[in-house]
Amino acid sequence: MARVYNFGAGPAVLPLEVLEQAQAELVDFRGSGMSILEHSHRGKEYSAVHEEVVANYRKLFNLPESHAVLFLQGGASGQFAMLPLNLLGEGQIADYTHSGAWASKAIKEAKIIGQVNIVADTSKAVPARVPRPDELKLTPGAAYVHITTNETIGGTQWKSFPKTEAPLVADMSSDILSRPFDVSQFGLIYAGAQKNLGPSGIALVLIRKDLATRVSPKVPVFFRYSTHLEENSLYNTPPCFGIYLMMLYSRWTLKVGLENLYRQNREKAGKLYAEIDRTGYYRGTADVSCRSDMNVTFRLPSEELEEKFIKESSAQGMKGLKGHRVVGGIRASIYNAFPPAGVDALVAFMKEFERKNG
Ligand SMILES: Cc1ncc(COP(=O)(O)O)c(C=O)c1O
Repeated sequence: MARVYNFGAGPAVLPLEVLEQAQAELVDFRGSGMSILEHSHRGKEYSAVHEEVVANYRKLFNLPESHAVLFLQGGASGQFAMLPLNLLGEGQIADYTHSGAWASKAIKEAKIIGQVNIVADTSKAVPARVPRPDELKLTPGAAYVHITTNETIGGTQWKSFPKTEAPLVADMSSDILSRPFDVSQFGLIYAGAQKNLGPSGIALVLIRKDLATRVSPKVPVFFRYSTHLEENSLYNTPPCFGIYLMMLYSRWTLKVGLENLYRQNREKAGKLYAEIDRTGYYRGTADVSCRSDMNVTFRLPSEELEEKFIKESSAQGMKGLKGHRVVGGIRASIYNAFPPAGVDALVAFMKEFERKNG
């Protein structure tokens, strides 16, 4: 079996042992004579999976008792809408930082629900960057303050988080569990699972429980955080197989350890940025102060060379390096499960490509 180096931004590479275990127990889940795909979400087999993944995340995030773990459908985009639907009450203002393409989508949804104040805007900055925590012009009495901790398309990442009076809310889709941080400073964190957690279609939500009570009775029951909180994400049939994969991935993350992953992530990104900076042939698109450890974005001297780069790297088993269709260029997504050897292979390829085409 030949596994390629998958630099895709999401759905993204998963740990091989997660895939292999899922494969091994797909048909007969732990001697039950049924697949986990066929088990009731109320049965003891699935319940054990559900309980374990919640417990694993509580450990990994060092989650305080004040916060709950939820699994919600509709990915991170669902949360763009559900968040203001629940937390942006009538007559209130929500503060949003505008750091690029994903922040823009969150802002767009919130504006449908209520009043939004853009408290810092770096969306047009060249090189790309996220706001500095001290740049935010916060609204007194805001319902919450929203940040996008890692802009997957722009390749930028918040290196420290702002201190806010209002609950701090983060879209952590593309850098969740890539580094240790203090969850208690956040009112709510959400992340599409398809980068560092598991398969697509699910959002992991960490919510301070008191925030779930804020919701207006006009919000349909299904779209209330309180519904899923009260029912431990089992209000309706959850995406059981996806949550099972998240459980396996969370085991792997616990085994490797968050500190180790953080060190490895910085080493992987550091190698690529060092190569980008080595001669000036490659040009990083993100400001050095906030270069992402997860999505490394760069350009070549021309679009023709970029096309050649993508084609030739792909032929050598390095897939998914094409930048997002909106910005072009090259993007190497190197999430937790991306092997360090794949980064070494890309660095070697970059050197050789420059030697031949520079
Ligand atoms: C930072 C960020 N937020 C939100 C999303 C949207 O996630 P989903 O496709 O799960 O709705 C993505 C997807 O790549 C993302 O990178």
